[in-house]
Amino acid sequence: MASFSPPPGTSDIFPDEISEWNQLEDTAKKVFPLYGYGEIRTPIFEYTEVFTRGIGNETEVVKKEMYSFEDRGGRELTLRPEGTAGVMRALMKTDTINGSEMRVFYIAPMFRGERPAAGRKRQFHQVGVENTGKIGPEYDAECIAMTMHYLNELGIDDSKLLINTRGTAADREPAANALKEYFGTHISSMCHDCQERLQKNIWRILDCKAKECQTIIKDSPQVSSLFGEKSREYFNKVVQCLKELGIAFEIDPRLVRGLDYYQHTVFEITHPSLGGQNAIAGGGRYEIFLPGSKKPLIGVGFAAGIERLLMVREALGIKSKDSTGKKIFAVSLGSYAKQENMKLANQLRHQGFTVVMELEDKSLKAQMRAVNRSGANYAIIRGDDEIEKNVIIVKNMATSEQKEIQLSELTNIL
Ligand code: HAM
Repeated sequence: MASFSPPPGTSDIFPDEISEWNQLEDTAKKVFPLYGYGEIRTPIFEYTEVFTRGIGNETEVVKKEMYSFEDRGGRELTLRPEGTAGVMRALMKTDTINGSEMRVFYIAPMFRGERPAAGRKRQFHQVGVENTGKIGPEYDAECIAMTMHYLNELGIDDSKLLINTRGTAADREPAANALKEYFGTHISSMCHDCQERLQKNIWRILDCKAKECQTIIKDSPQVSSLFGEKSREYFNKVVQCLKELGIAFEIDPRLVRGLDYYQHTVFEITHPSLGGQNAIAGGGRYEIFLPGSKKPLIGVGFAAGIERLLMVREALGIKSKDSTGKKIFAVSLGSYAKQENMKLANQLRHQGFTVVMELEDKSLKAQMRAVNRSGANYAIIRGDDEIEKNVIIVKNMATSEQKEIQLSELTNIL
């Protein structure tokens, strides 16, 4: 390690940035419980199988992006690249597997070994939800509505919601055959990865970002028309529910999403202020198999990238109000005053005031410079005389107005 920078694709988050993060997290903690969701916290790493089985071996995430390692006990482990598989692993222990509904949300770091770029990190953070145990278009529509509610609460009103259906596993074969037939005729002009995908996982071609593949993908058949009647009815009902809820959306017939567990509804939310990495949130209905499970866990959910939400809010000029109250700087003239000010600061902090002070012996001038640097609203100044007379000097830093008051009046003035 030759520098003080963290590893590529990771970031330190400093105190002056944290109020923005808190705002996003607090809003999640406020909005999701309105829909009956409770917070869940699961380990940052899981057995690798949870992801290989849960997300799918042929996904980019599993094939190329996982941080996997063997621990000293010889266990194969992986830092979670997303939240759904681990949360489902945790919920296997509950009645969810037998169809009881469970609604959970999480705010957590995720890890993907992607090439770092603006909005694409190796450690990033997601706010996500999972509603498991039940199936029905109303659940999917409600989940999408909640996603939009969350974004609106954050002041993001101009995002674009794209939706599509992936049908069911039974629907996939005829649709996959139609795609194979079409892409088979164009494959020689497509990227190397797509040539592999043609055999291994044809759906991933629709997700390819390579330039040479774009027009070919754009002209591919819209396979949802080949899905069974039930799947089409399911999707029509989701569409109808969203309209009734007054949610604006666009149907993107080639939206498949990058994870293999999706069934029926999929959705993605993009924002025009972001460049290449313009998805701020994504989700859908899924059926997820985990190691040792004979039947899948079903659910619907979404996750939003916190770093990308912050970028959008910055582009929109939205700033959260600093929630901490007025800041006070206690200035001490002499070491006795410093000792008394430490006691006073302690009392004020217990009453909920933010108080900082210089703990080294410094001149008045040096302390007043520190007051200015600190952004304090008030300086409270005492020396031996003031302590003896039970008074204190209060300086309002915004107006520079300064007055001596009785110590007992201090909290009324601040
Ligand atoms: P995802 O689309 O892979 O879905 O990720 C969700 C969101 O996480 C993306 O829309 C993006 O905002 C953010 N994100 C993903 N990768 C990165 C990255 N490398 N750097 C920064 N942000 C990133 C999932 O993870 C699913 N588990 C969502 C879900 C929940 N589906 C059902 N339930």
